[in-house]
Amino acid sequence: MSYQTILTTLENNILTITINRPDKMNALNKTVIAELSTAIEEVYQNKDIKAAIITGSGTKAFVAGADISEFQNLTVEQAKQLAQVGQDLFFKIEKSPKPIVAAVNGFALGGGCELALACHFIYASENAKFGQPEVNLGLIPGYGGTQRLVSAIGKRKTMEWIMSAKLYSAADAEKAGLVNEVHTPEELLPRLTESLALILTKAPVAINYVIQAVNGYTGEKKGFDLEVELFGKCFGTKDKQEGTSAFLEKRKPNFTGE
Ligand code: COA
Repeated sequence: MSYQTILTTLENNILTITINRPDKMNALNKTVIAELSTAIEEVYQNKDIKAAIITGSGTKAFVAGADISEFQNLTVEQAKQLAQVGQDLFFKIEKSPKPIVAAVNGFALGGGCELALACHFIYASENAKFGQPEVNLGLIPGYGGTQRLVSAIGKRKTMEWIMSAKLYSAADAEKAGLVNEVHTPEELLPRLTESLALILTKAPVAINYVIQAVNGYTGEKKGFDLEVELFGKCFGTKDKQEGTSAFLEKRKPNFTGE
C-alpha cells in the first residue's frame, strides 16, 4: 500500500507506521487521519502483522497536533465532525486486538499527545515534549485528550496540563505515568522493538484479551466482570491448552493464536 503522508515498513511481524510531514511537524491533516485509518485497518486484517509502532518522521516531532491550517472557517458542526472522525480513528487504535504502541521522538502536542495516549503504551526519546496547548488557540482537546489524559495522569494533573498549555519533558511525562520508558533518540526504536518482540512470544489471544480487559477498566464491578468473562474465554482457546501443556511438559509453547 502506498501513502502520501505516512510510511509503513513491516519487519519481524511489526508494522512501523511513520507519520511523514516533517516540514509541518507531522501535523495531522485530513489525509494523515484517513491514511492512518487505512493502516490501522491493515493491522487488524493482515495476519503477518502482529503489532504496530506509530512514530514521527525527522528528529523534531512525533506529531505537533491537528493541522491548524484546516481549522480556518470551520462551522460548529464541521468542527464536531472533525473531532468525531479523529476520535473514531483513536478508538480504533485503542481497541486494536494487536498491540499498537507509540515511539514519541519529539513534540507530541495536542492531537499528537492524544494519538500517543490512544496507543497501548508509550516509549519516548529524551528530547520528547508533551502537552495539550489547545487553549492557546481558544480551543480544547478534541481527539480524546480530556478523557484519556485523566486515565493516564489523574484528574488534577490533567486540569493543570490542559489549562496551562505548558509543555512537559519526557522525564516529567515518565514521572507523571504517561510514558513507560525514556531512551536516547538512537535507542528509542530498538528498545521498543525489543519490548514488542518479547510480547510477541506470548499467546496472541491472551494479549488481545489483556487489551480488552484493561481498556474495560472502570474502577467498578463492570471491569471485574469483564475480566471474569475474558478469563473464562481463555479456556476455550488452543493457546491456553498449548500454554498450560507446554509448562507441564517443560517445553516452550508454540502458540497459534487460536
Ligand atoms: N498545524 C499546522 N502546522 C503546524 C503545526 C500544526 N499543529 N505545528 C507546526 N506546524 C508548521 C508551522 O506552521 C511551520 O510551517 P511553515 O514552515 O510552513 O511556517 C512548520 O510546521 C514548522 O513549525 P515552527 O513553528 O516553525 O517550528 P518551531 O520549532 O519554531 O516550533 C512547535 C515547533 C511544535 C513548538 C510549534 O510549531 C507549535 O507550537 N505548533 C503548534 C502546536 C499546537 O498548538 N498544537 C495543537 C494543535 S490543536
